[in-house]
Amino acid sequence: MLNYLKSLFRSSSTPMNNGPIKGTIYKTYKESLVEIGDNCLVEATLTTYTPDAKIILGNNIFIGTNSLIGSAQSIIIEDDVLISFNCLIQDSDTHSLNSANRKDDCANWIIGKKDWTHIEKKPIRICKSAWIGAYSIILKGVTIGEGAIVGAGSVVTKDVAPFTIVAGNPAKFIRKTD
Ligand SMILES: CC(C)(COP(=O)(O)OP(=O)(O)OC[C@H]1O[C@@H](n2cnc3c(N)ncnc32)[C@H](O)[C@@H]1OP(=O)(O)O)[C@@H](O)C(=O)NCCC(=O)NCCS
Repeated sequence: MLNYLKSLFRSSSTPMNNGPIKGTIYKTYKESLVEIGDNCLVEATLTTYTPDAKIILGNNIFIGTNSLIGSAQSIIIEDDVLISFNCLIQDSDTHSLNSANRKDDCANWIIGKKDWTHIEKKPIRICKSAWIGAYSIILKGVTIGEGAIVGAGSVVTKDVAPFTIVAGNPAKFIRKTD
C-alpha cells in the first residue's frame, strides 16, 4: 500500500511537489495524524491544530487547489470523494465564542501555544463517492452521506443524506441523485 506516512512526521509547512501531493501538509503538533491513501491527488492544504487532531483520507480522492482541510479533532474522507477548489472544511470554530477566551488567540498562535480548550469541535466525515462543489464550506459536526453532491458555493451546516444534492447558504436539499 502506497501510504504517504512520511507526511506524518512533518511539523512545519512543507510544500510537496513529489507525486500526487502537490499541496501542503502543516502539522502544528507532530503527534497529530495525517494519513493519505492510494491514488489521491491533493492540491490542497491539510492542517492539524491540536496534538489529537487527525485527517484521514482513503483512496482515490481529489482535493483541489486553495482548499483548506483544517482539523482540531477529526476529519475523515472516504474513498472516491471529489472536493473541488477553494473549499473550506474545518471541524472546529477555531476561536471561542467568548470574547475574553479568544482575546489572546493571535498572540498565542504566534508562539505556537494557542489554547483550544474553549473551542467547539465536532468531527466531520465525508462518505464514499461524495462530490463537494467549488467554493463550498463544510462546518463542524457534518456528515456528508455516500454519493451526495454539495453544489458550488454552499455552506453546509447540517448532515447531508446519502445520494442527495444540496446547495446554497445554508445548504438545502435540492433533489435525490443516482
Ligand atoms: C449542484 C449541481 C450539480 C446541480 O446541478 P443541476 O442538477 O443541473 O441543478 P439545476 O441547475 O437543475 O438546479 C436545480 C435547483 O438548484 C439550484 N442550485 C443549483 N446549484 C446551486 C448552487 N450551487 N447553489 C445554490 N443553488 C443551486 C438552482 O438554482 C435550481 O433551483 P430552482 O429549482 O429553485 O430553480 C450544480 O448546480 C453545481 O453546483 N455544480 C458544481 C460545479 C462545481 O463546483 N464544479 C467544480 C469542479 S469539481
